[in-house]
Amino acid sequence: MNISKLQQRYEGKAKKVFATSDPSYYIVEYKDDATAFNGLKHGTISGKGIINNKMSNMMFKLLEKNGVKTHFVEQLNDRETVVKAVEIVPLEIIIRNVAAGSFSKRYGVEEGRELICPTLEFSLKNDALNDPLINDSHIIALGVATEKELGEIREMAYKVNEVLKKFFAGIGVKLIDFKIEAGRLKDGSIILADEISPDTCRFWDAKTNEKLDKDRFRRDLGGVEEAYQEIFKRINNV
Ligand code: TMP
Repeated sequence: MNISKLQQRYEGKAKKVFATSDPSYYIVEYKDDATAFNGLKHGTISGKGIINNKMSNMMFKLLEKNGVKTHFVEQLNDRETVVKAVEIVPLEIIIRNVAAGSFSKRYGVEEGRELICPTLEFSLKNDALNDPLINDSHIIALGVATEKELGEIREMAYKVNEVLKKFFAGIGVKLIDFKIEAGRLKDGSIILADEISPDTCRFWDAKTNEKLDKDRFRRDLGGVEEAYQEIFKRINNV
């Protein structure tokens, strides 16, 4: 693709986003930086940026094949990818199949309890407020998303869950939960944006329940790099 990288638009905790010579596209660059607890804990996960870039792109391609529209355009190199320019809807869209993390803490449910059905929750993306939970009526009342957009986001999130759950089951991995983000194109349509990686999903080995995701970093469990490599290896062996 013949576009050049221009000025940085944004630097997040794990990625940088650059404008390009074509206003319809951005370039994202994945970093090895890792944070947890809203930036309170900092570290580096060596090689993470490369794995997350490649893995996200593979997941986006799989989802596109299954009818989910995503921002993915073209991987440029190990850490950089061209994506469609979107306005991010400031929501963390979280689907859970099994209780873990903040859900377990909030409701006093043991981690690992299978939920009767997948659940969907939203947090408002706002670091200063610590990403508070937000409900549908608040989202609409605050103009974060319209009712129509919220319907599309909900449908997209459950579809992503269906496709990913099946894919990961095939490589011996339980998809416990994950976070996605939605983007708005210029024409107002909603597509899947951000990333899908061990930073943004909980993956447990189907046989041993070993954690193969960022919880190894969040909880100081050790073997962080190895967990990212293991997930990546399994995906590539399909
Ligand atoms: P939680 O149990 O801490 O709420 O996390 C739910 C899922 O969302 C889990 O797969 C990790 C992911 N997540 C992010 O991607 N970014 C975040 O900032 C947080 C808090 C969670």
